[in-house]
Amino acid sequence: METLAILVAAGRGERMGAGRPKAFLAVAGQTLLVRSARALRAAPSVGAIVAVVPADALEEARGLLDASVPGCVVVAGGGRRQDSVKAGLDAMPEGFEGVVLVHDAARPFVPADVVEAVAAAAREHGAAIPAVPLTDTVKEVQGARVMGTLDRGRLAAAQTPQAFRRDVLSRAYGRAFADSITVTDESMAVERLGLPVVCVEGSARSRKLTTPDDLEWAERLVQDGNA
Ligand code: CTP
Ligand code: MG
Repeated sequence: METLAILVAAGRGERMGAGRPKAFLAVAGQTLLVRSARALRAAPSVGAIVAVVPADALEEARGLLDASVPGCVVVAGGGRRQDSVKAGLDAMPEGFEGVVLVHDAARPFVPADVVEAVAAAAREHGAAIPAVPLTDTVKEVQGARVMGTLDRGRLAAAQTPQAFRRDVLSRAYGRAFADSITVTDESMAVERLGLPVVCVEGSARSRKLTTPDDLEWAERLVQDGNA
């Protein structure tokens, strides 16, 4: 079963505060956009990659990708993450019935074995995500007031790429849009339908680069030769 990837890179990077979308920021001289596309390409089962970028950065993204990860399709994203994912889905070949991966450009160091594992799990079960156990104790709060403590044993942090058989993702997205629901990841749209989503083991290296601290961590990772 063929596997295609949607690489979402159309966010504004507000929390990074760099004044431009973070996919275009560089770690050790290479943009997150290119690094994450290369990480996907390094997984043997990944065929084509559709990169979703801000509408005003289409040409820049094409130039960057053509130079180092040739063959990517580049399309314009939307206001919410799910609008960007939808734009990527709309760019999938007509009649494609394989596995679709949705990956954050903000996770440039995802190991190929995580990509392979999540794709294989989706092939078998329809939907899969990489997840890691939580290390902090998680509180339920209202403003500054602690309302309770969640059972950490029942919680996991979701990463990407999230993987779905195309029919599952299309159905889930169709329903989320029809119901005017905002989802924070693709899994959430599938969970709403009551369909199973399975977890595979994620990776600490697949940390999402959100703040300037994360970017420093990423620089160190590359400098130390662990990228
Ligand atoms: N994303 C996207 N389109 C959007 C919003 C997010 O393609 N409208 C992508 C981002 O580019 C990123 C991934 O979704 O690769 C995860 O989102 P996040 O880490 O929140 O990135 P940003 O939205 O860019 O950052 P912020 O929320 O700080 O503005
Ligand atoms: Mg965001």
